[in-house]
Amino acid sequence: MPQLKVAVMASGGGTNLQQLLDRFPNRDDSPTEARVALVVSNRPGIGALERADRAGVPTEVVDPAAYENSSEFGERLIELYRDYSIELIVLAGYLKMIPANLISAYRNRMINIHPALLPGFGGKGMYGRKVHEAVLAAGAKISGCSVHFVDEQYDRGPIIAQRAVPVFHTDTPESLAARVLEEEHKLLPEVVELIAAGKVEVVDGLAQVIAADKA
Ligand code: GRF
Repeated sequence: MPQLKVAVMASGGGTNLQQLLDRFPNRDDSPTEARVALVVSNRPGIGALERADRAGVPTEVVDPAAYENSSEFGERLIELYRDYSIELIVLAGYLKMIPANLISAYRNRMINIHPALLPGFGGKGMYGRKVHEAVLAAGAKISGCSVHFVDEQYDRGPIIAQRAVPVFHTDTPESLAARVLEEEHKLLPEVVELIAAGKVEVVDGLAQVIAADKA
């Protein structure tokens, strides 16, 4: 099976990206089912780009503000992903709205990781510390992370996999975020591996991980 070519989009430090770079190196001699072939950010000088450089993965900074409108921005990304033969896009801490034309071009081939148990605590404006503040304010006893396919609504696409963590009454947004991030670092590479092995499908708008013998 040819290696699945993955592009990762990030806006921040890139600790989730690092898990993918370590698990799916961009090397011809790597036996893995997938490889991180490109890293894209909306701004220069971020930790994610430094990690990609260290791993020898090409990077591109594509600033949405440099384009007339969302569709032109989307066209630029579609062209870029075509140039690199990208088959799967992973949003790992990417904070800009994804253009509708890119979502259509990569329907059920673009995933996002969110630091809460969707469909709760997601949506526009729900990112980073705000998510964990909301979980604590709601008095939830468990939280976690979710990987889902990206569609036209923030954090609403078909959920592929989730991992749960306990919430303690002594938690702060920072301590909860750290506990959730540990699970994110396990969940995201697992889901990319499942997709690379052809074990994830969407049926009637719901994502399913199909059993090994059916893949
Ligand atoms: C993660 O918590 C992710 O769930 C969220 O943004 C954060 C990115 O962290 N969407 P990092 O840049 O991967 O360290």
